[in-house]
Amino acid sequence: MSVSPLMAVLNGERRDPPPVWIMRQAGRYLPEYRRTRAEAGGFLNMVYRPETAAEITLQPIRRFAMDGAILFSDILIVAHALGQDLTFVEGEGPRLAPVLAMGEVDTLVPHLAHFDPIYATVARVRAALGPETTLIGFAGAPWTVATYMVAGEGSREEARVLAYTDPVAFGRLIDAIVDTTIEYLCGQIAAGAQAVKIFDSWAGALAADEFVRWCVEPTARIVGALKARHPAVPVIGFPRGAGEKIVAYAAATGVDGLAIDDAIDPDWAHAHLPPALPVQGNLDNLALLAGGDALEAGVVRIRRAFAGRPHIFNLGHGVLPQTPVAHMEQLIAAVRRPL
Ligand code: CP3
Repeated sequence: MSVSPLMAVLNGERRDPPPVWIMRQAGRYLPEYRRTRAEAGGFLNMVYRPETAAEITLQPIRRFAMDGAILFSDILIVAHALGQDLTFVEGEGPRLAPVLAMGEVDTLVPHLAHFDPIYATVARVRAALGPETTLIGFAGAPWTVATYMVAGEGSREEARVLAYTDPVAFGRLIDAIVDTTIEYLCGQIAAGAQAVKIFDSWAGALAADEFVRWCVEPTARIVGALKARHPAVPVIGFPRGAGEKIVAYAAATGVDGLAIDDAIDPDWAHAHLPPALPVQGNLDNLALLAGGDALEAGVVRIRRAFAGRPHIFNLGHGVLPQTPVAHMEQLIAAVRRPL
């Protein structure tokens, strides 16, 4: 039996109370994160310095003792490794340049050594964590990474139009991301990641058939390759915004755990997903921001809905920067209180 509750649940056991970690648990709502960020002088300086990235990964664990630590990095590191310039504009989010004109897809060459500092971060964090805490690695799903690579910023339309007008070229872009992501996740696993998560934040932007082609199929290829090389490492899929299509996604991708967003009714999810499938989620990040009764009631509702299956408590999307630290304390206490 695993000493880590989060690994036990990903392996199909039920734990009560459920293990908990929180998307974006290392971030701007923490004063120590803001201090480290100011010292580092920018987001990428944190990500590419193993000492700094490891420190940030550990900050929420020290304060709240979550059951999972998630590598501090970003999904766009893969686009950076494929040769695009990556910058983070303060208050505006990521920018990639140059935007990909089609025909340029074949000029993308993965520089796998680019990932070495990330692997060094993983190794540092794993060495610093106790056996009770699971280290989660991650990557963006090909579709979501492609939306940023094609538009140069957080916008879906450009990639959706390209996928219709030139599906062959778009498919080559997806293939390049799939291949690089497989190597990247295997590198994280080799360095000490015990589970990995695939973030498809913009899965909900795809029409039904496109969802199968650009979200489900590429994700299934990544999961298959990981299973071939690391059969014991669980893979969590997060097709955010996919609504009822999460059922087909779970079946067709072969993920070991399914992260769900807060638009999904937890009772509906429990009724429609395979009973042994571990589910992760799905408190509204605004209920965490609000705190008080909304937070308490939300936690109880979700725990009750998933009381009959392996469940990992989390939000439905990342914690917001303006969230009070006291509300995170309240959340962790509520999840760990006997029902
Ligand atoms: O969950 C975690 O704590 C692990 C670290 C992590 C980050 N980004 C750190 C980060 C993870 C897993 C991500 C994933 C990510 N990045 C996604 C998928 C998940 C999601 O949130 O939908 C996406 C779409 C991105 C791209 C991205 N990175 C955006 C749109 C932004 C700007 C938005 C913002 O909050 O400022 C980032 C920057 C980013 N990535 C920050 C963090 C902590 C904020 C950087 C800062 O200003 O301090």
